[in-house]
Amino acid sequence: MTPQAGSGERSSSPSWTVLDLLRWTTQHFSERGIETPRLDAECLLAFALDCDRLRLYVDYEKPVEENERARFRDLVRERGTLRVPVALLTGRREFWSLPLRVSRDVLVPRPDTETLVAAALDCIPDRDAEVAVLDVGTGSGAIALAIASERAKARVTATDISAAALAVARENAEALALADRVRFLEGSLFEPFSITGGLRGGETFDLIVSNPPYVAERDRATLPPELRHEPASALFAGPDGTDVLRAIAAQVGAVLAPGGSVLVELDPRQVDVICGWFREAGLARIEVHRDAAGRQRVVSARRES
Ligand SMILES: C[S@@+](CC[C@H](N)C(=O)[O-])C[C@H]1O[C@@H](n2cnc3c(N)ncnc32)[C@H](O)[C@@H]1O
Repeated sequence: MTPQAGSGERSSSPSWTVLDLLRWTTQHFSERGIETPRLDAECLLAFALDCDRLRLYVDYEKPVEENERARFRDLVRERGTLRVPVALLTGRREFWSLPLRVSRDVLVPRPDTETLVAAALDCIPDRDAEVAVLDVGTGSGAIALAIASERAKARVTATDISAAALAVARENAEALALADRVRFLEGSLFEPFSITGGLRGGETFDLIVSNPPYVAERDRATLPPELRHEPASALFAGPDGTDVLRAIAAQVGAVLAPGGSVLVELDPRQVDVICGWFREAGLARIEVHRDAAGRQRVVSARRES
């Protein structure tokens, strides 16, 4: 790509424009089977040029300097050859209109997870409700921060088993000026609130949300190559992907306040089994919520008393 970098290029022409680079890279990404070649090319070029994507359209005919092309070239190689996700190359991702920093220590937040946020907010219709909210497995902090940004008086707690992920989440909370409204705790599932959890033992929440790892180990070999760059502990949960979901269903009753709701994101193939586990745990009003593509993506349930 770009002059001096490979086959089919203009050998020494200094006049590669923004549009030339976008066209070349879009074609290159298409040939490599990347799903959104034009979008990825635009995001990476905007990042290399330190501008926003709209600026590229204004500057279509502008020549790109060699030092900027070199930067772009490295990004294109990592995307096209190593299949590193765009968000990990730029270190940022927008979620629920919040600009988040991401790294290889966290799952890149997915648009599907906005379904979980929307359903969670429906459980707190009063924007000034003083509710206690728990996000289990917060990763970049995406869900916890989205809820905190929408419900100014909610007391939000975000946990993760990964200290490195929590560091990213904390950084995002600070950048969004939400750090004083969200508490971050390290530990597995509800461990930080168990009877043996010291001062926090006995604490309960009005709303518990989680996008836990739910990919089946048996699918590992057939997954898109991009997933290799995200933490395995954020993705995989046993042979059929339900290990963490099962534990949540079994343990959530101890930390869910009477009248409170729990919502989990999952693979549509796991819906029936999770509904069954919520029922066995004595939860009621079990509902399934669909994502923007119409797939069953979130299950919610309520503790009646
Ligand atoms: C699928 S990612 C979700 C991240 C973020 N909530 C989001 O939606 O983008 C799952 C997260 O759960 C964390 N996790 C995995 N097992 C856990 C456990 N037993 N207890 C708490 N967190 C766990 C992982 O470290 C990871 O950050």
